[in-house]
Amino acid sequence: MQEKIKRLRRCQLSVPGSSEKMMAKAAGMGVDFVFLDLEDAVAPSEKRPARRKIVDALNGLDWGRTTRCVRINDLTTEYAYEDIIEVVEGAGRNLDVIMLPKAMSAADVQFVDKLLSMMEKKLGLRHRIGIDVLIEEVEAMMNVEAIAASTPRLECLIFGMGDYSASQGVSMRDIGGSGGYPGDIWHYQRQRLTIAARAHRLDAVDGPFADFRSPDAFREEARRAMILGMVGKWAIHPSQVELAQEVFSPAASDVARARDMIRAYDEALSQGLGAVQYEGKMIDIASVRIVKNLVQRADLIGM
Ligand code: COA
Ligand code: MG
Repeated sequence: MQEKIKRLRRCQLSVPGSSEKMMAKAAGMGVDFVFLDLEDAVAPSEKRPARRKIVDALNGLDWGRTTRCVRINDLTTEYAYEDIIEVVEGAGRNLDVIMLPKAMSAADVQFVDKLLSMMEKKLGLRHRIGIDVLIEEVEAMMNVEAIAASTPRLECLIFGMGDYSASQGVSMRDIGGSGGYPGDIWHYQRQRLTIAARAHRLDAVDGPFADFRSPDAFREEARRAMILGMVGKWAIHPSQVELAQEVFSPAASDVARARDMIRAYDEALSQGLGAVQYEGKMIDIASVRIVKNLVQRADLIGM
C-alpha cells in the first residue's frame, strides 16, 4: 500500500475555476492549499469552459509549494465524471488532490477512487492523486465513520457548514456564523467529524466563513476548530489566508516547550520514573502524546 502523503492544510483557499484572474492571483499567495472550483462558485453556463481554464492554470502557473486541488461537481450532476476526466487527462501531472462535494456514503468516494485508479494507469501517472471529501449533508454526517474508512486514497474530511445548514434546516444568515445560537452551534458536528477523521489518520478541516470583513469572528471560528483537533480552515477571500495559517501554526514558544517537555520526560524515564513534575504540574506519557501532535505539526511546517 502506498504511504499517505502528509500535506499542510492550515488554509484551503477556494478559487472560482471560471476566473483566470483569481487563479493567477491564488498561485502567488503562498497558501498551503488551493482548490480550483467547478462547483458552487461557478454558474452552470460556465462549468464546461471552466474545466479548460483550470487545466491551463494547473499546467501554466507556478504554484510553488501550494497543493493543487480541483473541486468537482457532486455525483448527482451531469458534470462530475467529465470534470474528473477532463481535468485529470489535461493536467493530471500537475494535480495533487480531487475534492468531492456532497458525498453521501462510502460508495461515492469509492467511485471517484476507482475512476482515478483507471486514469492513473492509462496516463502513466507516477503519483497518486488524493481525495478530500466534503461532509455537508445530514446523510454524510450519519455515515461519516464509513466515509472515513472508504479508501486509502482519502486524505481529509472537511466540514462544509453552508450546505450542511441547509441540509439540517439550520437557520443561518451568513455561512459559518454562529446564528445567535447559545454555545457553539457546530460543536457536535466538528467533534463527530474530527473523531472519525483521526481514527483513520485523516486530516479534519473546517469549512467557509462568508463574512470576510470580520477577521475577529473568523479567527474565533478557526480557533475553536483548531483546539479540538482540526488542522485548518477554508478561506473564500485572500484576506482570510493569513488569519487561518496563523491560527493553525503552533506558537514557536509552545513548540520549544513541547520539545523541552519531551526531553524532561525521556530523562525521567531513564531514571525509572513514569510521572514527574514539569513546571509544577504532573506530566506522564499522556502529556507527551498531546505535545507530540504539536511537534509533528511544527515539523511539517518546518519550524
Ligand atoms: N481567490 C483569489 N483571488 C480572490 C479571491 C479568491 N477566492 N477572492 C477575491 N480575490 C481577489 C479579487 O479578484 C481582487 O483582486 P484585485 O485586487 O486584483 O482586483 C482582490 O482579491 C480583492 O477582492 P475584493 O474586491 O475584496 O472582492 P471581490 O468582490 O472581487 O470578490 C467574492 C468577493 C466573495 C466574490 C470572492 O472573494 C470569491 O469569489 N470568493 C470565492 C467564492 C467561492 O469560491 N465560493 C465557493 C466556496 S464556499
Ligand atoms: Mg457545498
